[in-house]
Amino acid sequence: MQIAVVGTGYVGLVTGVCLSEIGHDVTCVDIDEQKVERMRQGLSPIYEPGLDELMKANIDRGRLHFTTNHKEAFAGAKAIYIAVGTPQREDGQADLRFVEQVAIDIASNIENDVVVVTKSTVPVGTNERVQSIVREHLKEDYKVHSVSNPEFLREGSAVKDTFEGDRIVIGSNNEEAAALLEEINRPFGIEIFKTDIRSAEMIKYASNAFLATKISFINEIANLCEKLEADVEDVAAGMGLDDRIGSKFLKAGIGYGGSCFPKDTSALVQIASYVQHDFNLLKSVIQVNGEQQRMLVTKAKQRFGSLEGKRVAMLGLAFKPNTDDMREAASITLAHELVKEGATVVAYDPIAADNAKKLLPSETLYVESPDEAIAGADFAMIVTEWDQVKALTFHDYIEKMNEPIIFDGRNCYSLEQAAQHPVEYYSVGRKNITSRN
Ligand code: UDX
Repeated sequence: MQIAVVGTGYVGLVTGVCLSEIGHDVTCVDIDEQKVERMRQGLSPIYEPGLDELMKANIDRGRLHFTTNHKEAFAGAKAIYIAVGTPQREDGQADLRFVEQVAIDIASNIENDVVVVTKSTVPVGTNERVQSIVREHLKEDYKVHSVSNPEFLREGSAVKDTFEGDRIVIGSNNEEAAALLEEINRPFGIEIFKTDIRSAEMIKYASNAFLATKISFINEIANLCEKLEADVEDVAAGMGLDDRIGSKFLKAGIGYGGSCFPKDTSALVQIASYVQHDFNLLKSVIQVNGEQQRMLVTKAKQRFGSLEGKRVAMLGLAFKPNTDDMREAASITLAHELVKEGATVVAYDPIAADNAKKLLPSETLYVESPDEAIAGADFAMIVTEWDQVKALTFHDYIEKMNEPIIFDGRNCYSLEQAAQHPVEYYSVGRKNITSRN
């Protein structure tokens, strides 16, 4: 089937490439001329395992195309996917300018009936609005129906998630449009869940808000464990054995970051407020996350009193491993707080350092390896659980640091290991190891 995808950001590109892989003829359209030229050569603008290979293979098969021209992209397309950004506005609301512009572009350029599929995460009611905008701006009487088809992709495993996802949600108020989307998605062989358009939009927000809630919940339990001398790793494992709870997303740490959870939780609080609903639970989830992101500095201040003049090794900067994405990463807050307290931050990240430079304080020093970061440091902070960071041994810390004091925001080491070495080891929701003294 002929399909157009508007927007070749993270979601759009992965969607377009994967749709071409299952046999569809896909044209991706983007306004960025240079980016389109590079993608035509099979070069992915984002770092995502497996994507480059699939891109090249399907360009070669002649079923994946890139253009800046809407008319060319839409010619003959039965479905047009909207996958443009919905950045967060100052007030927490999703900014729908780009989505609305695409709706106008669709109306101005189509020459046949189409189903408009929204992949971007948009507030409840937006798909209906998109449908109205397209219909209002149409020059001829084509049939246009909207379908909500939210994505649930994780950065770093987006290709895998597309082929092995738990469900495909199709929200539509028109049976023919829903049937077309079902036909497009059938080759993925994943369970399809059909519902009305508004419920589909809500599924996306509710899912992300629920996962964020799980994380804030376990982080609060971790904070309690620290005070009550319990071990959050064991508590989470014991809870997770209950099928109703499940073991995933119960890893205590320094809170969630990234492009989805922070943005979508704030947006849902806003959406609720428009219908005079005070979403207190979710507000608390957000607040807990903010405090959790600062937790390592709080602990360091408790340990040292003043951080003035301290040299700090910051191990990992990205919001999670295997991505160069720095959006809402805890490292940003932590580095700013440390610098404000008079400390020097020596940062290491295998791939996110370039992106970090725009967001961390200008005084931050960047190094190429974890070893260089800890050399001469007064304490270390583990922010992202990269393999390269986990490869550091207690022996390394003891040998290279000024003082082997480690604040681990990701529980990378076992307490047994730590206890065998003359180090100070502060982790999340577990006993402090201070065997140095
Ligand atoms: C998330 C959702 O998983 C995905 O379904 C949605 O479409 C987009 O948002 P992503 O942001 O790529 O994906 O990352 P994810 O792996 O879910 O992690 C998000 C954040 O939560 C990271 O900062 C991670 O470190 C943190 N996290 C995750 C925890 O602190 N504990 C956990 O148990 C799980």
